[in-house]
Amino acid sequence: MLDKIKALQEELEKIVVSGKEEVEELRLKYISKKGSISQLFEDFKNVSPEQKKEVGQAINTLKNFALDKINTLKESFEGAVNGDSGLDLTMPGDSVKLGTRHPLSLVKNEIIGIFGRLGFTVAEGPEIEDDWHVFSALNFPPEHPARDMQDTFFIEKNPDVLLRTHTSSVQIRVMERTQPPIRMIFPGRVFRNEAISARSHCIFHQIEGLYVDENVSFADLKQTLLQFAKELFGEGTEIRLRPSYFPFTEPSAEVDIQCVMCGGSGCRVCSQTGWLEILGSGMVDPEVFKMVGYDPEAVMGFAFGMGIERIAMLKFGIDDLRLFFENDLRFLMQF
Ligand code: PHE
Repeated sequence: MLDKIKALQEELEKIVVSGKEEVEELRLKYISKKGSISQLFEDFKNVSPEQKKEVGQAINTLKNFALDKINTLKESFEGAVNGDSGLDLTMPGDSVKLGTRHPLSLVKNEIIGIFGRLGFTVAEGPEIEDDWHVFSALNFPPEHPARDMQDTFFIEKNPDVLLRTHTSSVQIRVMERTQPPIRMIFPGRVFRNEAISARSHCIFHQIEGLYVDENVSFADLKQTLLQFAKELFGEGTEIRLRPSYFPFTEPSAEVDIQCVMCGGSGCRVCSQTGWLEILGSGMVDPEVFKMVGYDPEAVMGFAFGMGIERIAMLKFGIDDLRLFFENDLRFLMQF
């Protein structure tokens, strides 16, 4: 009897089926009333009392094994038949809702693209900085008002840990670890302790440019920025340079573009001047080259820095800077 059970078990283990009908055949063959396992229960009557326990357990184990196997096979075939499982595999999928890029990212990427075509690569630096990279190495005198608590966010009461107020700090970091020639731009977030209004925010974004080589002239700076303005605001765009002052450039210039709203004839946005300021720039001061260990007699360079919010506002005609930070979908979905 035990041998017979073992043989049946082995037989069952080996069985492979390829369709629902074969599973039904299996059921009939083994566990229907006339099936071989049911037959074992019949024969069980003739087992001697001493063997009843052992044989009984073996038959039950076999029966459970057979039931399990048949049920599992049955389910596996049911699932595969279209319709039976309640799944309609021909139904169209749920569409994924696409977001839009933030207007600041759009403008940033466009600016990176323009300078990329002029041979500038991209680098980044830390937002949490020290005095050296944000001020001292950029030739800010110790009493310069930009270092004041009123402009700069300091961290943990330590005046040497601060949030960078401009991306010019990345100029220093790059020059400290790279030898000229350098032709790079540095996009990033900057922080200034200013009241939040339609025109200013305590967090905003800049893109810095740095070009250092043996022979770089002010004409190169002017040509680069003219090319940039034409690509960003249209072929007919004119620029105007006004003398200015930054501790880290000499000479320095502020750059205006022709007003994008009125085309130069004068309107409310440009305060009737026909011009809009878009960036600060200049020839890198030899003092800065000394700070990073360059020979100021051997290299020359220019640098510029612009606010991304300001350019995005001009490009898209946005009149409130706070909109960039509120993440109102009605605003963001327009880009
Ligand atoms: N860092 C200056 C600012 O934040 C801009 C600037 C960059 C000016 C590079 C000159 C050269 O206002």
